[in-house]
Amino acid sequence: MSRAPWPTNGICFGGDYNPEQWPDDVQRDDVELMREAGVNFVTVGVFAWALLEPRPGEYAFGWLDRVMDRLHAGGIRVDLATATASPPPWMTRLYPESLPIDREGRRLWHGSRQTWCPSSPVYAELSLRLVERLASRYAEHPALAMWHVGNELGNHNVHCFCDISAEAFRTWLRERYGDSLDRLNDAWGTAFWSQHYADWADVIPPRRSATQGNPTQELDFWRFSSDEVLLSYRRERDVLSRVTPDVPVTTNFMAMAHTRGMDYWAWAPEQDIVSNDHYVDGRLARPLVELSWSADLTRNLAARSRRGEAGPGTPWLLMEHSTSAVNWQPVNYAKAPGELARTSLTHLARGADGIAYFQWRASAAGAEKFHSALLPHAGTDTKVWREVVELGGLLERLTDVRGTAVAARVALVFDYEAQWASGLPGHPTTLVDYDREVQEWYAAFWDAHITVDVVPTDAVLSSYDIVVVPCLYLCTDSAADNIAAAGRGGAHVVVTYFSGLVDEHDHIRLGGYPGAFRELLGVRSEEFYPLGPEESARLDDGSAVSVWTELLSLEGADAVATYADGPAAGVPAITRHAVGQGTAWYVATRLETTALARFVQRVVDEAGVEAILDAPSGVDAVRREGDGRSFLFVFNHTDQAVTIRASGLEVRESVPVDGSMTIPAGGCAVIREL
Ligand code: GAL
Repeated sequence: MSRAPWPTNGICFGGDYNPEQWPDDVQRDDVELMREAGVNFVTVGVFAWALLEPRPGEYAFGWLDRVMDRLHAGGIRVDLATATASPPPWMTRLYPESLPIDREGRRLWHGSRQTWCPSSPVYAELSLRLVERLASRYAEHPALAMWHVGNELGNHNVHCFCDISAEAFRTWLRERYGDSLDRLNDAWGTAFWSQHYADWADVIPPRRSATQGNPTQELDFWRFSSDEVLLSYRRERDVLSRVTPDVPVTTNFMAMAHTRGMDYWAWAPEQDIVSNDHYVDGRLARPLVELSWSADLTRNLAARSRRGEAGPGTPWLLMEHSTSAVNWQPVNYAKAPGELARTSLTHLARGADGIAYFQWRASAAGAEKFHSALLPHAGTDTKVWREVVELGGLLERLTDVRGTAVAARVALVFDYEAQWASGLPGHPTTLVDYDREVQEWYAAFWDAHITVDVVPTDAVLSSYDIVVVPCLYLCTDSAADNIAAAGRGGAHVVVTYFSGLVDEHDHIRLGGYPGAFRELLGVRSEEFYPLGPEESARLDDGSAVSVWTELLSLEGADAVATYADGPAAGVPAITRHAVGQGTAWYVATRLETTALARFVQRVVDEAGVEAILDAPSGVDAVRREGDGRSFLFVFNHTDQAVTIRASGLEVRESVPVDGSMTIPAGGCAVIREL
């Protein structure tokens, strides 16, 4: 358990600061401007390895000393990066074996970033040499508030297929299977297609093959890769914690819907403070819903961190966000006036005690020169700068939010292994989309203004009234037991189609589907009847459904709705089963939006869960409370003004609210209720 202090006295506000991209006179202005904006926290040195160690073993810390001193003089706290995110070009020349190799066997060269093999001993040695130097040099520096290991670990390099990785994979497998090839052969089902292994040396990563590969080999490789990158974090963390035991350590997660490869439930317990990067992704169906989902997920990751003693109120940090457009989507939309505060405060509302951005000053050169920043190319006479300064001022007035917590009565189970496994080839349809399903179920509660905890399969579920389990294709026995116990204990458990089909080795649970949940749900399915991309079916209650139907029979459950047409006409599609003190629902198909909303409302009513407020869909509301304080955050993502019922003091405008308040289109409000 970590007693490491929070990096700032108030709420952290700032961003990545890359002074090495600018001449000294520009750097001098930076601190003054940071103070003007209310910035109290910056991350320094993320991509500075090549300038800190220009030649092997030759260090140049002078410029960083000056930056640290200046920031300290300006009262700005530093989250000092270990600078190991991107090795310098000389590493390629001297140690080409440290570069990663992709599935097709192509070596990835330096020239972008993060071009290192996670299993490379050379990378480990040279990065730790630098970390040791940095840690001892800045251990006593008064600006040092936190350590930042690497950057978005695994973002570009989580899977490496080189020979060094192959050896590390074998070592990991020997550990997992107790050094027994028989156990590996069983787990991987290698009797199939002549894949039996008689020698460990023959076991390799799932490199490109002639056709579909072995799914368990693939799944184990994903598990190994997540562990391997986490190991590189732990190595650095151990050096830092030895040299500066009182300085918290973090690495910035990417808990976003499009992230693949890192099992953050396993990573979170290794963090002193959980920090997350979130960018609104215009490519998603409902980007602003995903924004809230990401924050609700990160809050629950934080509860597993070393600071997790604070339980649901464990603070976390939004480490990166954008003030306006990014530069890596097909069309990079600028944020509308007010959107900067609206999207940033969504994280604060869900438990973040700090908001930071990529980056402080917009770059003039390099791959990200069109990415927005706190300080735009056009300078301070800009919309973005004015909104930044306004937000900085607001966060100072919101210091009291610290120490309050978000309470949820609904849990939505989210599992990385189920995500990985459900995306593998060879399934009944390619149209089941784990992430879409998770987002859609989350959205139904978001639209109903009900706060959701996004939780792992082993979460303590006893405090929830509703537990939603979307498409949990891969499900261990203990996860199934945990979920069933929640139902028996009194919760409404909702399990959807494509759940509980396989065990941890991706082997079918025999005897009828959905094997892991058959008893809980009181049903048994014998065959799947997936629908085509343009097909849909109807239920007898009028619901439209798509993607999936199945030949289901009741074994104790009651039918709530039945297919009126389609390949499963006359077969139950939604069922309800009384278990212990609770209820287990099975939704054996994909409900279209209106039907899903209606179903969720029914469960919510039966469970007696109340909405935070009565408002149109597109308005997001969440409450942080504790220690005699209560803050209601309301985000109007619609293009209409909305009037809500509330009382207290609206902190942004400093106006009293007596019973009701109108929030303009695209606006947001923070109401201090107590
Ligand atoms: C993040 C990364 C930053 C910057 C940012 C741009 O993935 O950590 O360094 O690249 O995206 O949106």
